[in-house]
Amino acid sequence: MSDNQASLTAGGTTLDMPVKSGTIGPDVIDIRKLYGQTGMFTYDPGFTSTASCDSALTYIDGDEGVLLHRGYPIGQLAEHSSFMEVSYLLLNGELPSSQELADFSRTITRHTMLHEQLATFYRGFRRDAHPMAIMCGVVGALSAFYHDSTDISDPQHRKISSHRLIAKMPTIAAMAYKYSVGQPFVYPDNKLSYTGNFLKMTFGVPAEEYEVIPAVEKAMDRIFILHADHEQNASTSTVRLAGSSGANPFACIAAGIACLWGPAHGGANEAALNMLKEIGTPDRIQHYIDRAKDKNDPFRLMGFGHRVYKNYDPRATVMQSTVREVFAALNVQDPLFETALRLEEIALSDPYFAEKKLFPNVDFYSGIILSAIGFPTTMFTVLFALARTVGWVAQWNEMISDPGQKIGRPRQLYTGPTQRDYVPLSER
Ligand code: ACO
Repeated sequence: MSDNQASLTAGGTTLDMPVKSGTIGPDVIDIRKLYGQTGMFTYDPGFTSTASCDSALTYIDGDEGVLLHRGYPIGQLAEHSSFMEVSYLLLNGELPSSQELADFSRTITRHTMLHEQLATFYRGFRRDAHPMAIMCGVVGALSAFYHDSTDISDPQHRKISSHRLIAKMPTIAAMAYKYSVGQPFVYPDNKLSYTGNFLKMTFGVPAEEYEVIPAVEKAMDRIFILHADHEQNASTSTVRLAGSSGANPFACIAAGIACLWGPAHGGANEAALNMLKEIGTPDRIQHYIDRAKDKNDPFRLMGFGHRVYKNYDPRATVMQSTVREVFAALNVQDPLFETALRLEEIALSDPYFAEKKLFPNVDFYSGIILSAIGFPTTMFTVLFALARTVGWVAQWNEMISDPGQKIGRPRQLYTGPTQRDYVPLSER
């Protein structure tokens, strides 16, 4: 850490503030004494200039299109690693040895079953409930079932709850899907990999043997890797904020799921595919590009633009090549892929998108793959939540273990009425 200083004159006071450096990335000005010494707050809605924590998990260079997990580039992890290995890496800081990976995978596999009583919980939902609504409810309810791992001051409890969340999320997600289509729940099969088991619980039926297609399993595992963590995004910050009050991890992850649901965040993959369907054929693309550029039209190109990436999202590159692999493995074609490729080409050659540095993000192609595998659009964000759970859990653990951790409590610029006297109802 560097001990450079920045100075600020505000409210008649000049304040010297330490400048801290990480291992890589922009320095930060430590403003913690600002209010105490000047009586002023900083103002940063949307936190575009605010670092909220120290973190050693994930690094993004948005201008260069770089994403590193514990230092390893996402492209290398997507090509050579597995979701279980990336999960271990995020949680523990280093890649596992073969023995460590085997032990970790066994532990996760042994936690895949849900308390049987949770199955009844599903039946309280309407059949047409959005699976993200079910996810929020069921994951929040886990804290009522696993009391023995909710003492956040106990590292062992934290470890068990982390393993439980990562292990049970595929089961919860698959059950949400099964409930919506009226098929019986399929229990986990511990002979299968994390991802193979999820595919079986989702697409298998008790009446028939289910065969995992290796190419689909690999593609799905890669999609999980691509979504595993992404620094202090909205849902991760939500998990940290919820956790900062001492809330139990199941409740915190449920809060993260709720945040992820929004169309500006995890809901964008569903919105991107819906948009491609609405556009339909390449000849209609220009009309939608014009709409996206029109200030008076709220329409945006879904799957385009990112708060941090001002370059091609490195995850979108992997996603685009994965589409081709899945199509080849399943022997399918989807004209929407051609529409997506053409839309990307037209947008990237348009000065509006170039000036605003708007590029395809991870969600632009993911919907096309997931749809080819057989998932309905409503499940897309659920899959994102499943994969991101490891990132949320790792970030939550990092926060709880940080001795400098405090409850998250932003302030505001108040713009409401100043003090006034209550007027009785009879006089209004
Ligand atoms: N289509 C058209 N114009 C856009 C788009 C888009 N997808 N995204 C941003 N812009 C324009 C805005 O209108 C704005 O223009 P202005 O400067 O003339 O007002 C400018 O680019 C900057 O946009 P902001 O909304 O200020 O940028 P911000 O960083 O707050 O938003 C966001 C990022 C929310 C991702 C935005 O690009 C967006 O809405 N994209 C579509 C939704 C999407 O794909 N979300 C997925 C994000 S990735 C993820 O969560 C995994």
